[in-house]
This record gives sequence, C-alpha cells and structure tokens, in this order.
Amino acid sequence: MKTALALSILTALFATANASPGVVFTPPVTDPTNTTVWTSGQVETVTWDVSNPPANITNRIGRIQFRFDDITTPLVLADNFDILLGTIQVTAPLVITGSDYSLVLFGDSGNFSPEFTINGL
Ligand SMILES: *[C@@H]1O[C@H](CO)[C@@H](O)[C@H](O)[C@H]1NC(C)=O
Ligand SMILES: *[C@@H]1O[C@H](CO)[C@@H](O)[C@H](O)[C@H]1NC(C)=O
Repeated sequence: MKTALALSILTALFATANASPGVVFTPPVTDPTNTTVWTSGQVETVTWDVSNPPANITNRIGRIQFRFDDITTPLVLADNFDILLGTIQVTAPLVITGSDYSLVLFGDSGNFSPEFTINGL
C-alpha cells in the first residue's frame, strides 16, 4: 500500500513537471542554401528564419555545428548566441573542396541546412 501511494505521488510529481513544457522552436536555416558557395577560411553568414518565434522557447542558446556527408561533426562554428538573432557570421572551415557540406542549427532541437559547396584547399 505504501509503495502504491509513493508511486502515485511520484507519478503526480512527474506529470506536474511535464505539464508545462517549453515550446520547441526550430527556425529553418535560410542561408546557406543549396546554391551557396563558401570559401575555406572566409567569414560567411548563416541566417535562419525567426519571423515566427513562440512566446516560450525552452532553449534560446544557439549553436551551429558543421556537417559533412550527412554526418554532424564535432566542429562548432558558433555557439552561445541568442537563437532569436536570426543571423551570425562564422568562418568557413578549412576543408577540401566539396558540395556535401551542411550545418545544423541547435536551439531546442537541430535544424539542418541544405547541402552547399565549400571551395577548399
Ligand atoms: C535547391 O533548392 C531549391 C529551392 O528549395 C529546389 O527547388 C531545388 O530543387 C534544389 N536543388 C537541388 C539540387 O537540390
Ligand atoms: C509560457 O510560459 C508561461 C509561464 O511559464 C505559461 O503561463 C504559458 O502557458 C506558456 N505558454 C505556452 C504557449 O506554453
């Protein structure tokens, strides 16, 4: 009996904790596009659409990571910025020339950019 009571209290607490989840905000990346060409080592601009943010965002701290061939690499191009900024400048990584690079923008969750080209080494 005691166990059952404790369990139901736990369940109630858990339900309360989850009752008002923050709103997941996943702004689409608008630049780079699939026709973008970056140059290794150059400062380039990343933009994303913040025209429709919800009132509550669970995580406003943004981070951009580099992707290659559909794999998110540990390379962080920018972090600790406000997801509502909508744009940030990053330095294009030193990579070999290729067209299967992309980015992932993290806030509440990850949003991929289209694949784009980097003119590299
Ligand atoms: C690039 O994006 C445009 C607009 O979303 C789309 O129409 C086009 O098919 C894309 N091209 C490639 C090669 O994915
Ligand atoms: C936003 O947060 C406030 C305060 O925590 C809450 O009262 C409100 O219901 C939330 N709105 C949404 C859409 O989650």
